[in-house]
Amino acid sequence: MDADDYERDSTFGGDRASLASSSTSLQSEVTRYEFEHGRRYHGYQAGKYYFPNDEKELNRIDIEHHNQRLQMNGALHLCPLEDPIEIIDIGTGSGVWCIEMAEAYPGSQVLGIDLSPVQPSWVPPNCHFEVDDFELDWTYGDDRFDMINHRFLIGSISNHSHFYKQAYAALKPGGWLELVEMEALLYCDDDTVPPDSALRKWGELIHEVFGKMGRPFLPVERYREHLQDAGFENVTFKMVKRPTCDWPKDRRIKEIGRFCALNLLEGLEGFTMAPFTRVLGWRPEEVTVFLARVRKEIIRRRIHGYMKSCVVYGQKPLQPQQQQPHH
Ligand SMILES: C[S@@+](CC[C@H](N)C(=O)[O-])C[C@H]1O[C@@H](n2cnc3c(N)ncnc32)[C@H](O)[C@@H]1O
Repeated sequence: MDADDYERDSTFGGDRASLASSSTSLQSEVTRYEFEHGRRYHGYQAGKYYFPNDEKELNRIDIEHHNQRLQMNGALHLCPLEDPIEIIDIGTGSGVWCIEMAEAYPGSQVLGIDLSPVQPSWVPPNCHFEVDDFELDWTYGDDRFDMINHRFLIGSISNHSHFYKQAYAALKPGGWLELVEMEALLYCDDDTVPPDSALRKWGELIHEVFGKMGRPFLPVERYREHLQDAGFENVTFKMVKRPTCDWPKDRRIKEIGRFCALNLLEGLEGFTMAPFTRVLGWRPEEVTVFLARVRKEIIRRRIHGYMKSCVVYGQKPLQPQQQQPHH
């Protein structure tokens, strides 16, 4: 049997749990993880982010990364990058996007930051990870990056205007910000979602709970406005429909739907347990019973549901001093 000749290890594996960096003195703080209802959560700024950082969640992130590449026809980004020198990924998770960007642009330096030091240490030499909280004042310096990326920071950003203002400042004139985000609400164009749908209820509750916590899931169209308000130019918005499973006829969309279902099935408990128990006051058993109903609906091909996601990118003007937005 022939083996594939991978040049690097996958991001799966044991060294995810280790912190290999110069910030050794901070090691105990950032790896002092919290455990709750069988899942592991970040230690640095504990309690801030509501999804787990354990192996199960990291595997889900890698599954969804594959799905993103399917949705982008193999690309890692849609903005027109030319010989980028410095790239940063905010809230990098498993680090898989950074690793693949570093491979795609060997002449660039790619930095991924996250609350959790869960990224692998065997990575391309031009790829680096740091523990950081993007809600603190950014210390990367102004006019530095050719590209700033964020993907699935839903439920993590409390002040979007401030976030994009900081990102704008950190970009070089002419640099690009690109984001991929989504909603959890269930949409359907042919009335195949049952009136008492648990999946629809789940999406509504997720939006309610993160809204209550002041970290709202935005309607995807809002991201375009945020970028424009922050002063970005050439803002491009692409809405992507995420089928709940492989119900669509088109073969490509069917494949994407399969991965959307896998992402939801793998992620569901992690997305739900902490917000529903900590904020809505549900008991863990209640969450488990409810999620069993949600799972059944995810895989039902008769239900033609989808969730909305978006890819949005915009450019910092080449002469930003003349275009600075008024704050
Ligand atoms: C859903 S994951 C997305 C991972 C990655 N962007 C991807 O799409 O493959 C969100 C990540 O954002 C990180 N995060 C949330 N709040 C953060 C903050 N305030 N500062 C830094 N990272 C944060 C989480 O730790 C988590 O790894």
